[in-house]
Amino acid sequence: MNVSGMLRDDALKGKTIIVTGGGTGLGKSISRYLLQLGANVTICSRRQNVIDETAKELMAETGGQVLAVACDVRNTTEIENVMARTIDTFGRIDGLLNNSAGNFISPTERLSYKAFDTIVDIVLRGTYYFTLAVGKYWIENKIPGTVLNISTTYATTGSGYVVPSAVAKGGALIMTKSLAAEWGKYGIRLNAIAPGPFPTKGAWDRLFPEPLASMMDPTSRIPLHRVGEHGELANLAAFLLSDFSGYITGESITIDGGEVLMAGEFSHLEKVTSDQWDMIEQTIKQANRASKKE
Ligand code: HXC
Ligand code: NAP
Repeated sequence: MNVSGMLRDDALKGKTIIVTGGGTGLGKSISRYLLQLGANVTICSRRQNVIDETAKELMAETGGQVLAVACDVRNTTEIENVMARTIDTFGRIDGLLNNSAGNFISPTERLSYKAFDTIVDIVLRGTYYFTLAVGKYWIENKIPGTVLNISTTYATTGSGYVVPSAVAKGGALIMTKSLAAEWGKYGIRLNAIAPGPFPTKGAWDRLFPEPLASMMDPTSRIPLHRVGEHGELANLAAFLLSDFSGYITGESITIDGGEVLMAGEFSHLEKVTSDQWDMIEQTIKQANRASKKE
């Protein structure tokens, strides 16, 4: 399946958007589409060589402008440097995509305090540090900016074996809603996307390593029976960062092929065959008849 871009070509023309974790995976795919829509994009992450390589590739592919600035989102001085470099290069900042994350699958009782801190610091602290820094700049400069946070479906359901990530994504989601209420008066919007599984090397290496990969097929419990396409996520992200979503704020939009719905008590019954349903129907009807005679 090849996904076409859904917005018109100039949908983000003149906008400058910072994408954390924009050198790899979903951040890179979303950055590509933002550039195709005319935005200037600053990508940042810890590894300068990775973001330099991505910047070169995306500029050649799209003809757009990409600035690559190294930054650990746990460090406020580095965040302020990304902002200063962005303003120097592009003149202003209009959007922030909080996409950086750290995660790995593990029984929680095996984690050291530092392991828990590491994930929460990248995902929650990194998100509120960057949001606070950019929000202050927008309020001071009267810019109606937009924040988009990449969340997860388990930010609301919770999930075993990724507890630090769930705790941090849950916190970031509540921040999204809380600040949407508080900063609406400045014209600042904040939204989130909760993706189901979208294959990336970063996530698959840490969440589906062997033997887990052979033991669990993520598509088996997705009603649409497939993983997500990066283009599908990029379309939604670009829409939420654009003025076309101007009346949407404090929302989290799930894009997961229906995966979270499988928590519904009986939603997993698709393996029951038609013959078995005939039998089940007869059994129920028999019980109904028996109860009427009582
Ligand atoms: C137990 C582990 C561990 C593991 C690391 N640690 N991996 N503990 N099991 N598998 C512990 C270390 O021993 C250490 O604790 C602490 O965590 C910090 O590890 P470092 O390697 O020193 O940290 P750092 O170099 O900062 O690397 C951070 C990282 C790494 C999160 C551990 O994986 C990383 O850089 N990740 C970035 C990319 C990423 O995670 N992408 C996936 C996003 S997917 P001690 O006490 O020993 O010092 C996602 C959503 C997926 O978020 C949803 C899918 C459906
Ligand atoms: P990824 O490629 O590993 O992306 C994570 C990015 O975060 C990397 O570019 C990494 O770059 C950066 N990063 C990590 N620690 C950082 C730090 N301290 N400071 C700055 N940047 C940091 O994985 P992905 O799958 O694309 O994930 C992107 C986002 O989607 C994450 O928020 C993730 O939780 C979310 N998500 C993914 C899926 C999925 O199925 N893929 C599902 C739900 C949600 P450096 O290592 O260079 O710093």
